[in-house]
Amino acid sequence: MILEAVEDIINRDSSLDEALLSVCRLISKDVPGCDWVGFYIIDPQNSDELVLGPYVGAPTEHSRIAVGRGICGQAVEKGETILVKDVSKESNYLSCSIDVKSEIVVPIRKDGKIVAELDIDSHEKANFNAEHKEIFEKLCEKLGELF
Ligand code: SME
Repeated sequence: MILEAVEDIINRDSSLDEALLSVCRLISKDVPGCDWVGFYIIDPQNSDELVLGPYVGAPTEHSRIAVGRGICGQAVEKGETILVKDVSKESNYLSCSIDVKSEIVVPIRKDGKIVAELDIDSHEKANFNAEHKEIFEKLCEKLGELF
């Protein structure tokens, strides 16, 4: 159902930012434990950096993240989804708030190249599992059409 709702958002005649914000709102409303939901976009001027895009949740100081840094930067470097059940065990991690306990970051590709990523934080430990990974990866595959 969430994938159908994302399809509707994509097919609506709205800007990229409006569509991404709608997806943030949808996820935070429909998926339990998603306390911060946002997008980081590869900087078109500098592909070594991610820039904060639309999000819902508490403001973050991490408005730019270098590829390789934190969970977000590692997901780009490795070119794969990173699912962290307990952020306190991660050494390469950028904290947004002490309330955050688990996180998932899913790359978004256009023509095979990573252009952005979906980042979700939870205040619950191990909030995300293999099923979430599968759904969010499908969702991000669809979102690639927007770029
Ligand atoms: N925790 C992320 C930083 C971004 S915030 O979650 C919004 C990381 O380690 O890359």
